[in-house]
Amino acid sequence: MNRILTLILSFALLLSCLGCSQQTQNDTTKDLTADLQQPVEGNARLPDGGTTTEAEPPAAQEQPEEPYVRVIDPSKPMVALTFDDGPHPVHSHTILDTLEEHHGVATFFEVGANVPNAPDALVRMLELGCEVGSHSNIHQDLGKLKQKDMLLDLQTADEAFIAATGKAPTLLRPPYGSVNDAVKMGSGRSVVTWDVDTLDWESRDAATVVSYIQSLGDLDGNILLMHSIYESTAEATKTLVPWLMEQGYQLVTVSELFAYYYGELLQPNQFYGYTYFVTHGRTDTPVELPDPNAPVEPVEIPVIDVEPEPVKPSKPTTPSQPTQPTQPAAPSQPTTPAPQEPAPAPTPTPPPAEEPAPEQPAPEVTPPETPAPPAETPPESSGSETTPADPPAESAPPTSGETAPPADTTTETPPAAPTVP
Ligand code: NI
Repeated sequence: MNRILTLILSFALLLSCLGCSQQTQNDTTKDLTADLQQPVEGNARLPDGGTTTEAEPPAAQEQPEEPYVRVIDPSKPMVALTFDDGPHPVHSHTILDTLEEHHGVATFFEVGANVPNAPDALVRMLELGCEVGSHSNIHQDLGKLKQKDMLLDLQTADEAFIAATGKAPTLLRPPYGSVNDAVKMGSGRSVVTWDVDTLDWESRDAATVVSYIQSLGDLDGNILLMHSIYESTAEATKTLVPWLMEQGYQLVTVSELFAYYYGELLQPNQFYGYTYFVTHGRTDTPVELPDPNAPVEPVEIPVIDVEPEPVKPSKPTTPSQPTQPTQPAAPSQPTTPAPQEPAPAPTPTPPPAEEPAPEQPAPEVTPPETPAPPAETPPESSGSETTPADPPAESAPPTSGETAPPADTTTETPPAAPTVP
C-alpha cells in the first residue's frame, strides 16, 4: 500500500515539475517578444558593431536655408553707400547688421590705424559682399604730401588691411577728398571720391541725415558719403537702407557701380572725382567685374613730381551758377572744425616720419561755402573741362592723424562741389 502511495506521490511530483518548467519557458518567450517590441532609445548596438540613432529626425526637417544670391540688374537704379573713417568696433557692426538684414552692401573706406580696433568688422564686410577701400593710414591730407610720403602712408595702411583680411585694398578714398597729381595718378590705387555728401559728419543726428537724403531727389548712380564712426550714422542707416530699397534702388559697391552703371572697371593710378561724375552717365554697355578672388596683378606706379602746393587765397563765395534748389541749405558754420568726437583713437603711433609737407598751407578755414552737394549729377551736364575742379578739398585738415575726422569741405570749389570729411 505504501508502495502504491509512494508511486502516486512521485508521479504527482513529476507532473508538477513538468508544468513548472513549461511555465518558465513561456515566460522567457514572452519577455523576448516584449523586448523586441520596445522602442529603442539612444544608441543601439548593431550586429556588425555599428550604432544607429533611432531618434534621428526625418531628413525633411533639415532643409538648409538657401544662401541668398544678390543679383544686380544694370538697367535698374542703383546707389553706392560709402562709409569712411572706420572701422568702429560698435557702429561698423550696427551698419553691417542692417545691411545683412536687407541683403544690401556698401563700401567701407577704412583708416589703416583704426583697423586693429575692429579687424573682425573688415572680415565680416567681405563675407557680406561689401567692399573695403583704403582711407590712408592716419587720415592724413594726402594732397599735401609728396608722392613717396603718400606711398609710405598707404603701404603702412595696407599692412593693417592684410593683417586683418589677407588682402590690400585696390581702392583709395583720400581723406577730405584732397588730392594732388601724385594722389590722382601715382598712388597705384583707383582713387574714388563721392558725389553726394550726406553731411552726417556735421549734423550727427540720425533724423537729419535721413531727411536730408530723402530730400535729394534722384539718387540713381550716386555715391553717398557717410561715416561709420558716428552712432547717429549707424542709426540713420537703419532707416535709409530699407527706404532706398523701397524706392527701387539696388545697393551696390563702388566697383559694382562703376561696372554696371558707368560701364568701367576701375583702373589703378586713375582718379574718379567730381568731374568724372558730372561728365558720365549710365552706360549702355555694363561690364562684368572680375573674380574678386583672382590674384591681383602688380601695379606699376609712375613717378609723379609734386610741386609744393601754393597757398590758396580764401575766396569769397560767388557761385557762378545757381545751385540746385532741391538742396536744403547745408547746415552752415563749418568754420570751426566740428566738435571732435572721441572717435576710436585712430592712431596710437605717431605719423611716420615724413618730410615736413612743403609749406603746409595754413589750415584753410575758409568758410566752406558749402555749396549744396551735387545730389543729382546730371549726366552729361557738361562734357567740358571747364567743369568744376574735382577734388573737393577740405577746410579743416586735421592737425594730426589723431584727431577725429574733421569735417572736410570743399575749398576747391566749383559751385557744386561736395563737402566732405
Ligand atoms: Ni575721412
